[in-house]
Amino acid sequence: MFTIGVLASGKGTNLQAIINYIKEENIPIKIGIVISDNPNSMALERAKKEGIKTICIPSYRYKTILGDDIEKEYVKVLKENNVDLVCLAGFMRVLKKTFIKSFPNKIINIHPSLLPAFPGLEAWKQALEYGVKFTGCTVHFVDEGVDTGPIILQAVVPILPDDTPETLHKRIQEKEHIIYPLAIRLISEGKVSIVGRKVYIK
Ligand code: GAR
Repeated sequence: MFTIGVLASGKGTNLQAIINYIKEENIPIKIGIVISDNPNSMALERAKKEGIKTICIPSYRYKTILGDDIEKEYVKVLKENNVDLVCLAGFMRVLKKTFIKSFPNKIINIHPSLLPAFPGLEAWKQALEYGVKFTGCTVHFVDEGVDTGPIILQAVVPILPDDTPETLHKRIQEKEHIIYPLAIRLISEGKVSIVGRKVYIK
């Protein structure tokens, strides 16, 4: 069975979308472990409710990265749970080299903008403030940069004149919940290959 590990820090709606998709489509994907750096993350509750194994590994020394020892702990837990793919679902820390090297081309992320526009935090706010007419979301492989890895899938969301950060983020999330589970499925079926920066889907 293709096994994924999900890392989440916040509300966990993407985790929920993955859970629902696997059930509805009846596909052979197992969520082997959900890890959060935040003891209050709703993602942990959502996973427990589904009988999915969870662990909280906080990292109090830094805000935007994990300490070296803590990163090792994450890698250890993911390996122990035989994870084939690591899915960042609103995980608000940047992974460092050793973590990324431990799972070559096996870490993906969902980002709330049309990359390479608006990497980093609160991308929907950045898009709104910049005045672009369209934004969206991106599923990409994780490399050593911030939101710079090869792009797997994207979806476009128009920005409406009366959008607030909240209304826009909500519409972006609706698309995230479609493309993220789909990308995971395509990878699990061996349909995704990377050539340089380009991702090909069979
Ligand atoms: C999502 O919008 C995701 O794209 C974003 O955090 C949110 C998590 O929502 N991720 C990033 O900004 C990563 N740079 P969720 O906890 O409801 O899945």
